[in-house]
Amino acid sequence: PLVTSREMFKKAYEGGYAIGAFNVNNMEIIQGIVEAAREEKAPLILQVSAGARKYARPIYLKKLVEAAVEDTGIPIVLHLDHGEDFEICKACIDDGFTSVMIDGSRLPFEENIALTRRVVEYAHERGVVVEGELGRLAGVEDNVKVSDREATFTDPDQALEFVERTGVDSLAVAIGTSHGAYKFKGEAYLDFERLKKITEKLPGFPLVLHGASSVLPEYVEICNRYGGNIPGAQGVPEDMLRKAASMGVCKINIDTDLRLAMTATIRRYFSENPSEFDPRKYLGEAREAIKKIVRHKMRNVLGCSGKI
Ligand code: G3H
Ligand code: 13P
Ligand code: ZN
Ligand code: NA
Repeated sequence: PLVTSREMFKKAYEGGYAIGAFNVNNMEIIQGIVEAAREEKAPLILQVSAGARKYARPIYLKKLVEAAVEDTGIPIVLHLDHGEDFEICKACIDDGFTSVMIDGSRLPFEENIALTRRVVEYAHERGVVVEGELGRLAGVEDNVKVSDREATFTDPDQALEFVERTGVDSLAVAIGTSHGAYKFKGEAYLDFERLKKITEKLPGFPLVLHGASSVLPEYVEICNRYGGNIPGAQGVPEDMLRKAASMGVCKINIDTDLRLAMTATIRRYFSENPSEFDPRKYLGEAREAIKKIVRHKMRNVLGCSGKI
């Protein structure tokens, strides 16, 4: 069934693991992820961004996710990723999503609280849960100094106040991750001291880690070997994700790793099979690659295998 993340997060918090939240944009991505969850017996969050809604159209994504639920019977959360205003959150709630993110992290503290509070009121009246965000995720591509970057990290006292005043069900925090394939220039660094302090301020409260792809070198290498050009890509080391999952982090967001696995697979397929032009061939292999990497994440990184 389509479920909220309430029970999932409670169990994940107590069990010291995290649920994977994977971005979906088309049928092959959804099927790859869902097959992985079925085989791993893992609870699952499928998340849809504004860009995904624009690309695939809301009704197609909704029906594909419903098909996945009916086909597998596994508990799935259908979540809006990075809702930027009340209207998109409302549209998704009205459309049957069980979870939405209102991302007011770009706004001043009080405005973020007011916007988030408004979404929480609308969502909770309809049995939908809400993720908020406090702190900003800056990447190396933003070219900010390390000290300036840390100034954008989530403040533990503000996190407590934000949760109390908004009534959110989970909170995305900024501790050094960023979106995309270029997360660090030198050594990877996450502020675990800060994460610990946030957890102490909010004991038992589920935290969310965005920008949590590990940008596996093997897939970057395949992309580059078969005509791609993505030099210097670097993600969050898997050990750091394991550590975060063992702390208050209950939801770990992964998109870039799926994109890389899919693209690497298709690039290699085209190079090795220049006469083939049936999309089912390369999209089929891409779907297998998605399934493989998601199984790996669930089993070896997030720790959510066997937790249904
Ligand atoms: O946080 C961003 C996610 O990776 C979704 O990306 O907005 O390009 O769909 P998108
Ligand atoms: P990545 O770009 O690291 O996969 O992060 C995805 C994300 O946070 C989606 O909200
Ligand atoms: Zn994100
Ligand atoms: Na956890």
